[in-house]
Amino acid sequence: MIIASAPAKVILVGEHFVVENEPAIALAVELRARTIVEPIQKYERIYSSKNYGCCIKISDGKVSTKGNAEVLSPIVKIGEIVEGIAGLRKGYKLTVESEIPPASGMGSSAAVAVATATALGKLYEIPLTHEEISNIAYEAERIVHDTPSGIDNTISTYGGVIVFRKSEGFIRLDVDLSPIRVIIADSGLPRSTGAMVKKVRKLKNKYPKVLDPLYHTAGRLVIEVAKALEDGDFKRVGELMNINHGLLSAVGVSNLKLEELVHVARRSGALGAKITGAGGGGSIVALAYADDVQKIAESLQRVSERVFVLEVAREGARIEYHCAANNMDTF
Ligand code: PMV
Repeated sequence: MIIASAPAKVILVGEHFVVENEPAIALAVELRARTIVEPIQKYERIYSSKNYGCCIKISDGKVSTKGNAEVLSPIVKIGEIVEGIAGLRKGYKLTVESEIPPASGMGSSAAVAVATATALGKLYEIPLTHEEISNIAYEAERIVHDTPSGIDNTISTYGGVIVFRKSEGFIRLDVDLSPIRVIIADSGLPRSTGAMVKKVRKLKNKYPKVLDPLYHTAGRLVIEVAKALEDGDFKRVGELMNINHGLLSAVGVSNLKLEELVHVARRSGALGAKITGAGGGGSIVALAYADDVQKIAESLQRVSERVFVLEVAREGARIEYHCAANNMDTF
């Protein structure tokens, strides 16, 4: 049996603008998706999701499904890609389970994809690099989202804190975030990332002269946040997050509930608060000093379905457990 895991992500600044090649900063946080793979003798692949209670079985060229098996299509795609790279066939039962709430702006689909590519690489005994794992997960993300920037699969694979730019890849920020906590509050409103990205693109195409400078501003803002993080100046980071929220409202991805969450977080002592991810629902992220977290979390719990206080996950994709037929090695 093999168990692999990958963390959730939080976009600190730059979502949406990152789709048009502006930079963004993402953090990995300690909520994980896990993929469990059990080899089976027959060439048969069974994929199931614990969270969605669905299953898809591919055996002798026949496909049978249970529940809303469509959500498993990115995982099936990863199975095909890894099989193609390995150039051999293996039968397995693969189960995914996730602590990351789906459609909440925390990159649950990317984390599941990254954990799955990691686990299958181990099953086929092919030494997949982080870059290969991230690229495979990106292919799966393309099924779920319209034109993903690639930030989700990248941060979930590598962990830590990164500055990401579509055309250039990413750089790691070696910053000490131990004085602060990341608070996530879920609006409870589901939304599709693909639909939100399309909506923003439509607005940009309608008013290019108005929105182009705003995209440029968002890019400048991200660079300022990177500098502030490196200086350990979290007050500045918070102020810039608030400005970033204004830019996201301007491109039409906020709503009454998200505004409420952002303002409750700020009023109860957050250094800054904004939408995180695609918006239109999903979550907000607030940054706070460790001493202020309890008050902020309690205030948010009164208006949010789900509040998380999280630390940065330094490690990205990893093998949690591996037990071969007659030798056992755990990591
Ligand atoms: O809400 P999420 O976790 O799917 O994040 C989407 C982030 C966007 O910038 C809106 C899209 C992207 O592909 O980067």
